[in-house]
Amino acid sequence: MDPRASVLTQRLADAGQSHLLQFWNELSPEEQADLTIDLQGMDFQEISGFFKNAMETSSSSKQEKMDARMGPVPREVLGSVTRDRDSLKDWELAGLDCISQSKVAALLLAGGQGTRLGVSYPKGMYDVGLPSHKTLFQIQAERILKLQQLAEQKHKIKCRIPWYIMTSGRTMESTKDFFSRHNHFGLDKNNIIFFQQGMLPAMDYNGKIILENKGKLSMAPDGNGGLYRALGNQHIMDDMERRGIEFIHVYCVDNILVKVADPAFVGFCVQKGADCGAKVVEKTNPTEAVGVVCKVDGHYQVVEYSEITLATAEKRSADGRLMFNAGNVANHFFSFSFLKDVVQKYEPKLQHHVAQKKIPFVNTQGQLIKPDKPNGIKMEKFVFDIFQFAKTFVVYEVLREDEFSPLKNADSQDAKDTPTTARHALMSLHHRWVLNAGGHFIDENGRRVPAIPSLKDGTDLPIKCEISPLVSYGGEGLEELVKGREFHPTLMIDESGVHELVKNGV
Ligand code: UTP
Repeated sequence: MDPRASVLTQRLADAGQSHLLQFWNELSPEEQADLTIDLQGMDFQEISGFFKNAMETSSSSKQEKMDARMGPVPREVLGSVTRDRDSLKDWELAGLDCISQSKVAALLLAGGQGTRLGVSYPKGMYDVGLPSHKTLFQIQAERILKLQQLAEQKHKIKCRIPWYIMTSGRTMESTKDFFSRHNHFGLDKNNIIFFQQGMLPAMDYNGKIILENKGKLSMAPDGNGGLYRALGNQHIMDDMERRGIEFIHVYCVDNILVKVADPAFVGFCVQKGADCGAKVVEKTNPTEAVGVVCKVDGHYQVVEYSEITLATAEKRSADGRLMFNAGNVANHFFSFSFLKDVVQKYEPKLQHHVAQKKIPFVNTQGQLIKPDKPNGIKMEKFVFDIFQFAKTFVVYEVLREDEFSPLKNADSQDAKDTPTTARHALMSLHHRWVLNAGGHFIDENGRRVPAIPSLKDGTDLPIKCEISPLVSYGGEGLEELVKGREFHPTLMIDESGVHELVKNGV
C-alpha cells in the first residue's frame, strides 16, 4: 500500500472511519489516488464534532415544541408593499440612490444539488420553457443590468452592482463555463465573483461516513448557511470592502420572480437602519409547509412548520390574519458590517441541522444499494440561522404572486413549484404588467380576453406574455409600448420591440 495511505490508515482508525478503505485493494491506481486526496483533505475530528452537536440538537428540538416561546413580528419592524403603499416610492428612491453609489451587491445562493428537480446541471441553467427560453441565470443577470441602467439614468452617474455567486464543488466549473459561453449575459465579468461553499460527508446514524461507491465518499454541500464560512475562507468580505459595498441582497437561484437587489427592499432596510432584513410573503393557510419569521425568547428566527402545533399555526391577530404569517422565502438584506461580524465572530456558533435522507451506498459486500427509506443524514447550516445576532432586524412583506415562485420539483401531475408553475407565474405577472400599462389582449376571433383568465377545458392557463428584464425591471416603462394597443398572445417584448409570435407564425 502507498506509504501515504498507511499514515491515513492510522488517522482513519483513530477516527473510527476505517471502513472507508475496505475496498482499497479493488481500486485502480487512479481511484486510489483520488480517494487518498479526498481523505487527506478531511478534518475527521471537526466532522465528528459537527455530527455529535447536530444529532444532539435535533433530538432535543424534536421533544419540545416552540409554541410557548414564540411571539409575532411587531408592526413597527414590518414594512409591507400592501399596507405601506405611501412609503413604497420613497423606499425605492432610497435604494436606487444606494445602488447609484455602487454600495449595493447581489449575492446568489446557487450551491444546492437540486435533487428534487433531478437535472445533472446547476439549477440556474434550467430553462422553464418561456417563449424566450431564457434560463434562470440569464433572467437574473438581465435584471441586474436593467437596475444598473435605472440607477444610472436617475442619478446620471455610472454604477455597478457586483454579483457574488456561491456554487459548490459540484456546480462551480459548469456554472463558470455557462457564464463565459454566454458572454456573462452582457454584464462586466469583473463584477461577477464566483466562490465555492464547503462540502460535508453524508453519515449513517452512528456517525460513519457513507461510501457512494467503492472509492468515493458521499459528499453534499453544507447548506445555504455554508455561505458564512465560505465568505471568510475565500476572502469575499475583503473583496466587498475593496469595492466599497455597504449593503448586500442575498437570494436563492430558484425563484423565477426574484427582484435581484430590489431597490425598495434595500431602501426600506437602509431607512430603518437595519443590519439584517428578511423579505417574507404572507402565509394565509395554517397548514402550508413554510417556515415563519418570528421572535423566540425575544430573538428573531425562522420557525419551521414542523416545530409548532396546529393550534399555534391557526392563531389569528385582531386584523384576522394568521398571527405567525411571515412566510420565509430565503431572501435577505445584510449590512456589510453585520455580515462581517457574522463571518468573523458568529459563524462558529452556528449548529448544523440534520436532514434525514435516502443516501445510496455500497454495503459491506460491495453492492450498490438505493435505500427506499432514510438511512443517514446530511448536515446543513441555513442562511437564516444568523437572525438571532442582529441588533436591528426588520421584515419586509411582499406579494407572493409578484415576487415568489420557486422551482423545486420536476413537472408531474400533483407536484408544486415546478417548471410549469414557475413559467406560469412569470407570464401571469407580465400579463398584469401589460394590463396595468393600458394594453389589452385579444383572442383568435379578435375578442378581448378577460383580464382574469377563465377556467377553460378545466385549465386556467395564463396568457402567453413575456417581457424582457432589459425592457422592464418591475413593470415600469411599459405604457409607451402598450397603452391603448391590442395584442394576440404570444406577446414578447424585448430590446428589439414588441412581437406577437403566433400571429407571425413564429
Ligand atoms: P433548497 O434547500 O431548495 O435545495 O435550496 P436545492 O439544492 O435547490 O434542492 P434539493 O433540496 O436538493 O431538491 C434553496 C436555495 O439554497 C441554495 C440552493 O441553490 C437554492 O438557491 N443552496 C442549498 C445552497 O446554495 N447551498 C446548499 O448547500 C443548499
